[in-house]
Amino acid sequence: MEHASSTREIPTHGKVPCHVAIIMDGNGRWARQRHLPRIAGHKRGVEAVRATVKACAERGVQFLTLFAFSSENWRRPAEEVSLLMQLFRGALTQEVAKLDRNGIRLRVVGDLSRFDVRIRDLVEEGERRTAHNQRLTLTIAANYGGRWDILQALSRLTREHPDAVAKGISEEALAAYLSMDYAPEPDLFIRTGGEQRLSNFLLWQLAYTELHFTDTLWPDFDARALDQAIDSYRQRERRFGRTSDQVDEAERAQARVAGGAHTPQKMA
Ligand code: IPE
Ligand code: IPE
Ligand code: MG
Repeated sequence: MEHASSTREIPTHGKVPCHVAIIMDGNGRWARQRHLPRIAGHKRGVEAVRATVKACAERGVQFLTLFAFSSENWRRPAEEVSLLMQLFRGALTQEVAKLDRNGIRLRVVGDLSRFDVRIRDLVEEGERRTAHNQRLTLTIAANYGGRWDILQALSRLTREHPDAVAKGISEEALAAYLSMDYAPEPDLFIRTGGEQRLSNFLLWQLAYTELHFTDTLWPDFDARALDQAIDSYRQRERRFGRTSDQVDEAERAQARVAGGAHTPQKMA
């Protein structure tokens, strides 16, 4: 599926962000504040994931992308990495049936070749089992890096089209090879935990995304915190390079042709 490129045309956007991308940060500090091991924070983080998926589905968000493990997180102590892998494996084992029941499609992006075969099999099985779901697409970015993504896209593109460099590569052509080719660019980016940086998340796709930073630590993130982020998003004027007057005029025109709104349902 082709999605509008924010730098090539003006993407349509509504009151509820269609695509929310989150850097789930602050698990370690949450645990430290309670004199618990870091992994206790990661465990509570999984609960915050559940709550956030539910809240997004209920609000009519169509794509939720969560940064779970960056390509740089291998630098952490081996014990923490291995506990994170165990948690990921456990979540894949336990949550897929529930996702499926709730109409949620699971996708995992990142360089999975570095993961244990059990995890790779669970990912494949989870994606296959939920592939037909249409309510919300939940993407987990695992061993993901924005630079890796751009490079893998470029190498696949030039492998399949050896004349691409000579002919010139368009944004659309490259974007079709990015690992999230199935999703529109994020409307709203949230980073919890107080840090204000991208940490090599979706570098290409965040070009025109609205950024929201909160001090809330990820294990404390919930529906209320999501609503605060969405409220802040609603107050932004997304100009995509235009002037305010042009935006007003375009919004009036859009309101004239607007169809019915998406009706969110309750989650089982
Ligand atoms: C985010 O929380 C989870 C992962 C990166 C896996 P952190 O573990 O980075 O928590 P802090 O930043 O140390 O508090
Ligand atoms: C970013 O968090 C990656 C994930 C949330 C998975 P980090 O905690 O690893 O980011 P830095 O290293 O502080 O930038
Ligand atoms: Mg961190």
